[in-house]
Amino acid sequence: MKQHFIANRWVAGASGEAIPVIDPSTGETFDALARGNNADIDAAVQAARTAYEGDWGRLTAAERGRLLYKLGQKMQDKAEELAQIEARDCGKPLKQARADAAAVVRYFEFYAGAADKLHGDTIPYQNGYTVLSVREPHGVTGHIIPWNYPLQIFGRSVGGALAAGNACVVKPAEDACLSLLRVAELAAEVGFPPGALNIVTGYGHEVGDALVKHRGIDHVSFTGSPAIGKVVVRAAAENHTPVTLELGGKSPQIVFADADFDAMLPVVVNAIVQNAGQTCSAGSRLLVERSAYEKVIDRLSTAFSQLRVGPSQMDLDCGPLIRHTQLQRVSAFLDEVRRDGLGIAAQSQIVPEAPKGGFYQAPTLVRDVPARHRLAQEEVFGPVIAAMPFDDEADAVRLANGTDYGLVASVWTRDGGRQMRIAKKVRSGQVFINNYGAGGGIELPFGGVKASGYGREKGFEALYGFTVLKTISIKHD
Ligand code: NAI
Ligand code: MG
Repeated sequence: MKQHFIANRWVAGASGEAIPVIDPSTGETFDALARGNNADIDAAVQAARTAYEGDWGRLTAAERGRLLYKLGQKMQDKAEELAQIEARDCGKPLKQARADAAAVVRYFEFYAGAADKLHGDTIPYQNGYTVLSVREPHGVTGHIIPWNYPLQIFGRSVGGALAAGNACVVKPAEDACLSLLRVAELAAEVGFPPGALNIVTGYGHEVGDALVKHRGIDHVSFTGSPAIGKVVVRAAAENHTPVTLELGGKSPQIVFADADFDAMLPVVVNAIVQNAGQTCSAGSRLLVERSAYEKVIDRLSTAFSQLRVGPSQMDLDCGPLIRHTQLQRVSAFLDEVRRDGLGIAAQSQIVPEAPKGGFYQAPTLVRDVPARHRLAQEEVFGPVIAAMPFDDEADAVRLANGTDYGLVASVWTRDGGRQMRIAKKVRSGQVFINNYGAGGGIELPFGGVKASGYGREKGFEALYGFTVLKTISIKHD
């Protein structure tokens, strides 16, 4: 059974209770995690505070950067081990898990280099004054990580927070903790002071809730569902704790008839099939100009019917979903699709070798989805893409903006004016033109508008969110 990792040591959970660790490829339990509670959170927050006020807080920005870099190098050395852990725990095809391990390394490189380049300003003011703004860490930051990309989301969130000088308490999702426990152990090995990085495992409504409500937490970074995002913000409001929210999306890919289809098609397929569609920035809606609609559906159907789904170790195009309830959730969407008589244009194959207990869902292309249908509005978080035609630019923008979400959008066209007109009119945190970055882009600021959340992670921008600005006014005449 895995324990919590607090102040560079394995610590047994106060409750003594356990949570099963399940392999989504088989449905079998292969390990157990500590079921954390308030007391465990309290111990982790205290350890973080001690580090912040002591050995960790004392380091210069350059020294912090060096430690982050060392951890990046260590993770690089252990990349295959981390990928194997992640693949088994999350059911990811190995190539995806390897990409995730490479990404967490890159996040730590990026934030290592950024640590000593984050600074404030001097501000012109009245005669006889010098005014400075300084960027200070929040102090102890809490990080609630989902199960879809534990390594990557840890990298973007905790990497930035550590670079900015915060001490971190991390609560991974109950379905996927193993890789992050290993990373915390590696951080201790490369010399992070005890308490700079702490991991407490357990259920969201138990330890997640305790973390958000703890008075010793100075900032919360949450990635997960819109419903729990609201719960987190309400709980954090009790102590006026600031929150960064990343809540997923219903991201549109807008394809015009003049697009380069050969370049577009594999990207569109990957953006929904990657990680079995369990990607906050999955390209889950396909909007196609009417004159090209049948052609695109045809070519996409061929691509979908050739995809193969199976266990992580077979390293196919698509793995299982994370757990049984996610499979039920996705199946319920498809039941509605059939009930409402929508057209399933294509579905992939689950290979016969896939263990019967695994949580497999074949990627599915649904055509002519009405804009108000639940499949066109809500996040499925599975490999299901909703296609619909549009008539002109204005119609495309109206459809693109016609959901509660606003995380990512893409525009596929050769017309430069149209690229920029649409990029400016779409309400989302990122717009890709003739490309798409589902989950990618370490250097690119990322986050949503509307129900997709607020605040930015990734890129240099994240460091502003993980610091508070203090203004110092000096009168010297
Ligand atoms: P969730 O929002 O319940 O879980 C995300 C994280 O929040 C987990 O670490 C969980 O333990 C924690 N959590 C849960 N309740 C909490 C509470 N009361 N206080 C603090 N933390 C809490 O998501 P879930 O149920 O696993 O997945 C349901 C749907 O959420 C998915 O189908 C998907 O649509 C969406 N989702 C979106 C993600 C994204 O990347 N934006 C990631 C995970 C889920
Ligand atoms: Mg698991």
